Amino acid sequence: MSGAPERAQAEWLRRVEAEYRSSAIAQHLTLWLTQAGASPDLLHAGLRIAADELDHAELSMAVYRAAGGTSTPQLARESLEHPRRTRDPLEWDIVRVGVDVFCLGETVAVPLFRYLREGCEQPEARAALQRILRDEVRHRDFGWTLLDAMLDGPLGAELRALVGRELPGCFARVRASYAPGFAAALTEVSDDDRRWGLMPPARYAEVVTRTLARDWVPRFRARGIDARAAWEGAATP
Ligand SMILES: [Fe+2]
Ligand SMILES: [Fe+2]
Repeated sequence: MSGAPERAQAEWLRRVEAEYRSSAIAQHLTLWLTQAGASPDLLHAGLRIAADELDHAELSMAVYRAAGGTSTPQLARESLEHPRRTRDPLEWDIVRVGVDVFCLGETVAVPLFRYLREGCEQPEARAALQRILRDEVRHRDFGWTLLDAMLDGPLGAELRALVGRELPGCFARVRASYAPGFAAALTEVSDDDRRWGLMPPARYAEVVTRTLARDWVPRFRARGIDARAAWEGAATP
C-alpha cells in the first residue's frame, strides 16, 4: 500500500476530536436523564455509549498514528460544553439533544460508516470502522428508545410538539454543517484516501437523502411527527 495521504491523516485526527465531542454529549445527556429519573436501563445504555465513544477516539488515534501523524487533537472546549438552553423543563433539553444527536446524527452515521468501511483496506482504519459501525447501530437505537420513553411520559404532548418545531433547524444543520465536517471539506477523494476510510462529500449528500426516506420519515411518522415537512421547511444553506 502506498503512503498515507495527508488528507487521511487530517481527517482521522478530526475524527478523534469528534469522538471526544460525542463522548461529552453522551455524558451530559446521561446526567440529565439521571436528574430526570429515567429508567436505569436507559442510563446504563447512555454511560456505555459515552465509553464507546472514547474507544472510538482511541481507535481513530491509532489510525492517525499509522498514517504517520504526530500531532495531538485540538479540542475546542466550548464545543464540549452543553449548558441548559433555556429555563424550559429539563425534559425539553433532553429531547432536543436526543433527537439532534441520536435520532438524526447516529441514525445517518450507520449508513455513512457502512459506506466508509466498504472502501477501506488499511488495517487500522478498517478495524476502527468495524467497531464504530457495530456501535453506531446501538447508539441509533438508543436515540429512538429515548424518544419513545419521553413521548410516552407525562410531557409527551408538549415534547412531540417541541420536536416538530425543532426538526427544521436540526435538518438545516445536517445540510449545512455535518456534511463538510464529516468529509473535512474534501472536494475529491483519491483511491488511496478511500482505502484509508474517507468519502467524497457528494456521496454524503446521497446517504443523507436516502436516510431521510428510509429512516427519518417513517420513524418520525410512527411517532406522529412529520419529518418530510420539517425537511422541506429546513432552510437550505
Ligand atoms: Fe463514535
Ligand atoms: Fe456514536
